[in-house]
Amino acid sequence: MIGIIGGTGLSEPSFLNSVQTRQIITPFDEKPVQIVTGTLHGTDVSFLPRHGKGHKVPPHRINYRANIWALHSIGVRALIGVNAVGGIHPETGPGRLAVPEQIIDYTWGREHTFFADGLDTVTHIDFTHPYDETLRQLLIHSAGDLRLWPEGVYACTQGPRLETAAEVERLRRDGADMIGMTGLPEAALAREIGIAYACIALSVNWAAGLSDDIITMEAIGEVLQGGMGSVLMMIERAVQQYASDY
Ligand code: HPA
Repeated sequence: MIGIIGGTGLSEPSFLNSVQTRQIITPFDEKPVQIVTGTLHGTDVSFLPRHGKGHKVPPHRINYRANIWALHSIGVRALIGVNAVGGIHPETGPGRLAVPEQIIDYTWGREHTFFADGLDTVTHIDFTHPYDETLRQLLIHSAGDLRLWPEGVYACTQGPRLETAAEVERLRRDGADMIGMTGLPEAALAREIGIAYACIALSVNWAAGLSDDIITMEAIGEVLQGGMGSVLMMIERAVQQYASDY
């Protein structure tokens, strides 16, 4: 089954039909993970808003392990992460879409692996290419006529505060093209458990110091509203393509 993890701006499964909410108990939380299952043009889809119902859980408090484990336990084997980002590269201005190719981890203190306790042997996964290339190509094709940058390096910062201008300049020198707070450990956990994962990034602001304005939630909200329609269009086509390919 294909799954969608919705980020800021995509917390409701309004694009699905016949929705049911499932409560999944995981080894990683006392509370169950709530996953919505439904259909899109007849294809089964799972949906999980990573910030929880009502968008209340900040990036550093998300229980990424519980979320990925729960999705895997109900049969999700391909997963699209939708992420709002701040743009660094000229191709990633507000309102632009990207399907990043690489990711750099600047987070700290997050529970970030399934391979920690009770191991028979120490396990290191290959993460040279952090996103599943087949799913990435499927997403790129699902953009159709929409303007989309089919590459880029996603820098994952800890948040929840936004960056300083100097931090953004350092990230740019590191090779980062866009900045978000939730791409990791999500992508790595998906690889560890055996889920094909790729990301749709929607730029909602220029990263700190790259425009004359300070970054406001109001301005971000406006761009999100404008851009989420395109993201949903991509998801719709991607799900149909997935159903015919698999
Ligand atoms: N930085 C980090 N995460 C973000 C940003 C940003 O500028 N915009 C949206 N998510």
